[in-house]
Amino acid sequence: MIREETIMLGTINSEILFLQQEDQIKAGLLDMKMVMEITENTYKMLGQGQIQNPPKVHLGIPAGQVWESFFNTMPCHIAGDMNIAGVKWAAESKKNAWTPGIPYGIDVSILSDPETVLPFCIQDGTIITAMRTSAVAGVQAKYCAPSDTETATLIGAGVIGRTMIMAVCEAIPTLKTIYLADIDLPKARAVAAEYAGKYPVEIIPTADSKSAAAKSELIVGETTARKPFIDKSWVKPHSAIVCVSNEADTDVVKLADVNVVDYWDQIITFKNKAITQVYDAGEITREEVLETSDLVLGKPVRTDDEQFIYACSLGLGALDITVAYKIYQNASAMGLGTRVRLWDKPLWE
Ligand SMILES: NC(=O)c1ccc[n+]([C@@H]2O[C@H](COP(=O)([O-])OP(=O)(O)OC[C@H]3O[C@@H](n4cnc5c(N)ncnc54)[C@H](O)[C@@H]3O)[C@@H](O)[C@H]2O)c1
Repeated sequence: MIREETIMLGTINSEILFLQQEDQIKAGLLDMKMVMEITENTYKMLGQGQIQNPPKVHLGIPAGQVWESFFNTMPCHIAGDMNIAGVKWAAESKKNAWTPGIPYGIDVSILSDPETVLPFCIQDGTIITAMRTSAVAGVQAKYCAPSDTETATLIGAGVIGRTMIMAVCEAIPTLKTIYLADIDLPKARAVAAEYAGKYPVEIIPTADSKSAAAKSELIVGETTARKPFIDKSWVKPHSAIVCVSNEADTDVVKLADVNVVDYWDQIITFKNKAITQVYDAGEITREEVLETSDLVLGKPVRTDDEQFIYACSLGLGALDITVAYKIYQNASAMGLGTRVRLWDKPLWE
């Protein structure tokens, strides 16, 4: 049924389905359980060599670590039954963080037919990014947090803070309490109120992330902090720290019983990541680090509840595309979106 209504691949039809956020949400994008299933499956495929995902190309403006804004290009090919190519054009702006009405990060995803190379779907990538970033942290937390985790501290009550509440609640069924920490306490209060009663957990807003972390088995960082603030004094046995940004410093990596990254080949190209700095200093080897693919393919991760585990991510473009493809299929079946064309007839061929 879906096949009839989707744009036929392998043909020379230049039609593109354009999906805006509202269409994506109707097509099920806020279903964290679904996004986490896609996440586990995508990392399995990555681990089995079915995905090409070259490291993202980063363009900072101005150049270097002091960017005011940046753009990343994240291309991939997903082989197997899916057989699609795609790219996420990912961007973030410091200025947006204090400008009402615009998200800090804004992304666009393009899906293409690998045979004809025609694009067949363009959609917002902003909510996909938030959902899949938290889904990766959720999957990492599922395998890395102690088995009896009841308390988590989530640091950063922004866009990804919201989806992180969804992800940890899906990932950790034993969870009872979430401390939602932000340097902007009114923001933490507002997001805690927004999610109150949606999951069987108590969400407590706080500005004191360190005190909350001391009471938690799971600590998750999803902030816009430009310098690490989680240092060795936060590390304790029987816990896990999962970061989607640069919250943890190199001592956290060095003290971890197990280190996990989302995708080694890519993260190692980003010199501002703590794990890269420890690797470049020769203080950890490739063999000592697990990838998220290893976790979902069944490699042992936490072998003792007393261990301290650190997991981090940089973001896998292929996951944006597998999630976008599912939303494209759902939206097509539901008749959502706007159909546009690259051309009626190409001027030159
Ligand atoms: N790993 C990935 O795949 C991935 C993907 C997308 C975004 N990210 C990163 O996620 C982070 C959050 O993005 P967002 O869109 O949610 O941003 P956002 O602006 O919506 O929210 C960030 C929040 O962090 C808070 N914050 C900043 N410094 C803090 C600190 N030291 N302690 C506590 N709170 C602090 C801010 O007050 C804000 O509420 C960014 O750093 C972004 O680069 C990672």
